[in-house]
Amino acid sequence: MALALNNGKAFINGRLEAANILISNGKIEKISETPFGTRAEKEIDCRGKIILPGAIDCHVHFRCPGFEYKEDWVSGSLAALHGGATTVMDMPNTRPPTLTVKDFGEKTALAKKSAAVNFSLFMGFDGGNLQEISACQGLRAVKVYYGASTNSNAMDSPESLEKLFTLAMQKNLVVVLHAEDEAEIKKNEEKFRAEKEPAVHTKIRNDAAETNAIRVLVCLQEKIGNKLHFAHISSKKGLELIKKAKKGQFGRAITCEATPNHLFLDSKAYKKMGNLVKCNPSIKSSADRKALWEGLIAGDIDSVASDHAPHTLEEKKKGYWEAPSGIPGIETMLPLLIDAALRNKIAMQRVVEASSERPAEIFGWASKGFIREGFDADLVIVDPKRKFTVENARLFTKAGYSPFNGWKLKGFVEKTLVGGAVYG
Ligand code: DOR
Ligand code: ZN
Repeated sequence: MALALNNGKAFINGRLEAANILISNGKIEKISETPFGTRAEKEIDCRGKIILPGAIDCHVHFRCPGFEYKEDWVSGSLAALHGGATTVMDMPNTRPPTLTVKDFGEKTALAKKSAAVNFSLFMGFDGGNLQEISACQGLRAVKVYYGASTNSNAMDSPESLEKLFTLAMQKNLVVVLHAEDEAEIKKNEEKFRAEKEPAVHTKIRNDAAETNAIRVLVCLQEKIGNKLHFAHISSKKGLELIKKAKKGQFGRAITCEATPNHLFLDSKAYKKMGNLVKCNPSIKSSADRKALWEGLIAGDIDSVASDHAPHTLEEKKKGYWEAPSGIPGIETMLPLLIDAALRNKIAMQRVVEASSERPAEIFGWASKGFIREGFDADLVIVDPKRKFTVENARLFTKAGYSPFNGWKLKGFVEKTLVGGAVYG
């Protein structure tokens, strides 16, 4: 059955233009200046609405298998649809962690059963599973925790990383890095052991933790030239190092992402929200936040990903040292960015590039990320005039809270289409 999105403005070729979109068999069949009439059995009138490519959220933790009480593919998918994300890339720090072809296959089967959005899975790297990574079919990317984080061990051996980077080069895999230096974190944990306030997180996971890691990693990448994507960059100094590395010999293979947590919150948030905003890498100063915005606007930051990392409120209510790191965010990522664009903080073009186009290019989603004939009909329909308030009670994530609870945003994601199927 064909579906027409008539009379809207769609983001095509870098700008919003009047467009009518005909969808059939899950694809964008035709884009026309005139509305589709009888060729479509179903029509959505998009007058006054804007149509964007769905977000490709290349950093989520949907927690299956092992931590289904925090999230699963049903709740995670609903959260994704609610926030306008049509594709997600799921991290390997599950139980068991995704380290073998078998883990990868079983996890894929689990996700396939319940996912309502497109997905792909990361493999993890523990230094001993190169053969498994090499043999894994359909793998796009490998995640490395250079420093330990929630339910994941550190992997900072230069010899092992060099082997992984070499394999990634051969197999055209993206290596995604959680770039924090374990030694720096451990040193700071000792130093601040007596502190109890969550704000200490910024002193423990400080910018030196990030820059120490980035320095080593770009040096290694420079020898090999593989694709290296830095997840959740959080500091001004870290971003400066990446900007420099991007100018190097193989700098075009280096990309980086920022999260809404680091773009929309800074260290002031600990006072009000405590461990709810404890995440790794930490949320840092307002100067760091400002630098991330400048980097996003300038295109030094390639993509925005949510790092959707849900934990229960009960877990988050523990003391600083016990509470797990991670913030849910897939439902608020695109709405926050759209709001910023509608308030002229950033161009809509940069929002679409960072949330759809660049993730598609970096991770090889060949028919996604753009509104083009022949591409997948993964779209969001937004009412740019409608304002709404982020409310914990309306969220689909099992976490049930957001640090953005109570924020008033402009631009409402009314409908999300995944392969032409309409939600909302
Ligand atoms: O804050 C974080 N939470 N950072 C990570 O690296 C992992 C994540 C999680 O899985 O909860
Ligand atoms: Zn993460």
